[in-house]
Amino acid sequence: MGTPNPPQRILVTGGAGYIGSHACLRLVETGHSVVGLDDFSRGHPGAFRAIAAAAEELPGSFTSVEASIGDRRGCAEILREHDIDLVMHFAALAYVGESVEQPLRYYDNNTGGAISLLEAMMDAGVERFVFSSTCATYGEPGADRIPIAEDCPQAPINPYGNSKFMVEQVLFDHAEACRLADKPFAFAALRYFNVAGSDPKTRIGEDHRPETHLIPICLEVAAGRRERLMIFGDDYDTEDGTCIRDYVHVCDLIDAHIAVMNQLAPGDTHTLNVGLGHGWSVHQVLEACRAVTGKAIPESISPRRAGDPPKLYANSSRIRDDFGWSPQFTELEATVATAWAWMQANPSGYAD
Ligand code: UFG
Repeated sequence: MGTPNPPQRILVTGGAGYIGSHACLRLVETGHSVVGLDDFSRGHPGAFRAIAAAAEELPGSFTSVEASIGDRRGCAEILREHDIDLVMHFAALAYVGESVEQPLRYYDNNTGGAISLLEAMMDAGVERFVFSSTCATYGEPGADRIPIAEDCPQAPINPYGNSKFMVEQVLFDHAEACRLADKPFAFAALRYFNVAGSDPKTRIGEDHRPETHLIPICLEVAAGRRERLMIFGDDYDTEDGTCIRDYVHVCDLIDAHIAVMNQLAPGDTHTLNVGLGHGWSVHQVLEACRAVTGKAIPESISPRRAGDPPKLYANSSRIRDDFGWSPQFTELEATVATAWAWMQANPSGYAD
């Protein structure tokens, strides 16, 4: 960051989802021309409407298209029509439990969909790709591997993590084939830890249906929409017995994508953790939500949720050192406050 970067034409897949919508908005804010693509299977038309409205006052531009990443021909047409320079690929199914019940759907959509999109990029001659990967590709690293660095062995424990891990492998093979054929291709796979918060101006936010994530669930209790927070186990080998996660603000996460995009050179093959580098326990998150909302937020302890490792937090020095990324939201309360502000401004989420 720091040096001026020329505006680019960027396709954001999953642009109407939680993270993709924040990417669209931030890219338009920083002067880029953005095409948001979504099939609305999980994304919200209301997110596109909100981005389009905001874009009128912003330096960049925004266009939205309804399309599926699995439609190779349609995507190639979109890439050509908008003369796209780079693809940021967020479109994916992202419920761990659902992936265990419907693995074929996850491999088809997440892995097959990414392959189809890469083929469309080949057809249209688009050579730069930023991929939304996950710390779920690491599985359950041993205690000696925490904080998790990028060279930690990847051993996903569910189809969701595996579907993303397989895309990373596809990307390395594809990049190598392009290199041997003297065709430029570059990618960066950003492995997210726990993404939280929302646009501080409450133009867009987090609206998962169903909601499974800790912070929005605490806030739904605070808002009176749920009775209590169920803490999934308080007998883990951690200081207070609850699981520890690394909560990175969605705006910082998107700034990481932009920092990487701005330096992505032909032939690059990056894997990068994006997290703060330390964690907070479920109890600490709950306390932060109580402090921000001023509400009691009743809790009760329930059995452990299958597949929850006790501690997951990042060693994020690679993206800090090599790309100059440095998160702005380092206090949990500040992150929670943005999520709470969105929820208060939009009590029913997006009115789709
Ligand atoms: N938790 C509760 N009660 C709830 C919800 C969550 O106690 O009602 C706990 C979980 O057990 C976990 C922590 O809060 O210890 C965080 O849970 P989230 O569901 O918010 O997030 P996860 O860490 O499970 O999931 C994140 C990403 C996934 C990714 C996963 C990798 O959201 O996409 O990390 O482990 F797959």
